[in-house]
Amino acid sequence: MTYDLIILGGGPAGYNAAERAAHGGMQVLLLEERTLGGVCLNEGCIPTKTLLNSAKIYESALHGADYGVTVSGATIDHEKVVDRKDKVVKTLVSGVGAKMRGAKVTVKNGFGCITGKGPEGMRIRCGEEEYLAKKLLVCTGSEAAVPPIEGLREAVAAGFAMTNREILDMRTVPEKLCVIGGGVIGLEMASYFSTLGTQVTVVEMLDKIAGPTDKDISAILQKNLEKKGIRFLLEARVTSVCADKKTVTCEAGGAPTSIDCDGVLVSTGRRPRTTGIGLEKAGVLLDRGAIVCDERGRTSVPGIWAAGDVNGRSMLAHTAYREGEVAVSDMLGILDRVDYLAVPAVIYTKPEVGTVGDTIESAAKRGVSAAEHTISLRYSGRYVAEVEGGDGIVKIVVDDAHKTVIGIHMIGSYASEIIYGAAAMVATRQRVCDVQKLVFPHPTVCEVIREGMFMID
Ligand code: NAI
Repeated sequence: MTYDLIILGGGPAGYNAAERAAHGGMQVLLLEERTLGGVCLNEGCIPTKTLLNSAKIYESALHGADYGVTVSGATIDHEKVVDRKDKVVKTLVSGVGAKMRGAKVTVKNGFGCITGKGPEGMRIRCGEEEYLAKKLLVCTGSEAAVPPIEGLREAVAAGFAMTNREILDMRTVPEKLCVIGGGVIGLEMASYFSTLGTQVTVVEMLDKIAGPTDKDISAILQKNLEKKGIRFLLEARVTSVCADKKTVTCEAGGAPTSIDCDGVLVSTGRRPRTTGIGLEKAGVLLDRGAIVCDERGRTSVPGIWAAGDVNGRSMLAHTAYREGEVAVSDMLGILDRVDYLAVPAVIYTKPEVGTVGDTIESAAKRGVSAAEHTISLRYSGRYVAEVEGGDGIVKIVVDDAHKTVIGIHMIGSYASEIIYGAAAMVATRQRVCDVQKLVFPHPTVCEVIREGMFMID
């Protein structure tokens, strides 16, 4: 059977692209090996947000005294939280299925693989079936990277060490958890388990947590997480993991340290899934395992596009949506591109972190002369009313040449939602004087952004 478009992978990039392509008049086949929704829906964004929401409710119950609220006997039932997470995932996965049916996309469960290329298009095998694709979109996503640390692979096999996939299904609460990697996954899971009473140690090889996040915001986040009881070992190199002895050994500050724990989370980044799908056969160019593609999603082979984590670029679900959309636009002859500068990123810890665009350092790396302006969230009446002793900030990065807002970085309540407005400012290249004229609702936390604009000369 011949399709106008075959999509490998039904995560955010794949299912969104499928819907757009079908609405654009293409006959679409979507091949998904596991479950629709991909990592985001099944073992990433959505399950973690479900867990973190329960943790936030529990935390509020425990620490309401400053606000005149005392709850006695507050408890959190991790098994119930996991059950609810499963229910939420099931609901949303079936929603994606309904979306596909509504758009008349054919969905097949199975592993799709390129077997050859002829004048009619690409031959794609899925189980016993072979299909012909006039166009192919590769959205096979990413998988957790497990670094070559002594004993780690064995520890994963023994269930002592877990990736994001296994830890989300863990039904017991570990007394002690060691998190390898202080990036987004590590911090969100450290935050959840620490709220439940687990003693968490995060081992990070860099000198700061939260990867490319602005350094001052990383420092505020670290301080807040330390207050919760999370221990951080920075500039630390894990040398071995031993499932039998239940230890992680690392070198921090030149001295070996041994961490006793009941479980280990490996959150040291993800790598694109590009093996076994016949990309070599088709001649698709890869760079360190990621598919090389331009900002319209075109790979090195005409007729083959790629979108989402598989290109190793941004590795965020919302980028994947947009990349899928842009690839379909390109197939349909519509001029479109992804504006990577305006892609927001969020860390759903408490306090939340929301960032978009350049930091002062990344602007300098791009050769853009810019200045940063920092403003405390305590300028917001709502923030003061709602957060006792809050230390949140907003940083606004403005280019010197045009006084255009090129970055906004924030730590504090509602940052995950507010950052959308900031992303719109960056995407539309608004100048400081344009934002000054916007009316923000009052009293809100986001109005600090407007306040900050008036502090810029
Ligand atoms: P990450 O790239 O965010 O962080 C990995 C961290 O591990 C880095 O700080 C790195 O320096 C450190 N590291 C690497 N090897 C190490 C080692 N051997 N010892 C100690 N530290 C080591 O990766 P993460 O947290 O696994 O997340 C994967 C992807 O999923 C990211 O691209 C992230 O953006 C995405 N994601 C996004 C979420 C969100 O938007 N809220 C939530 C969860 C994941």
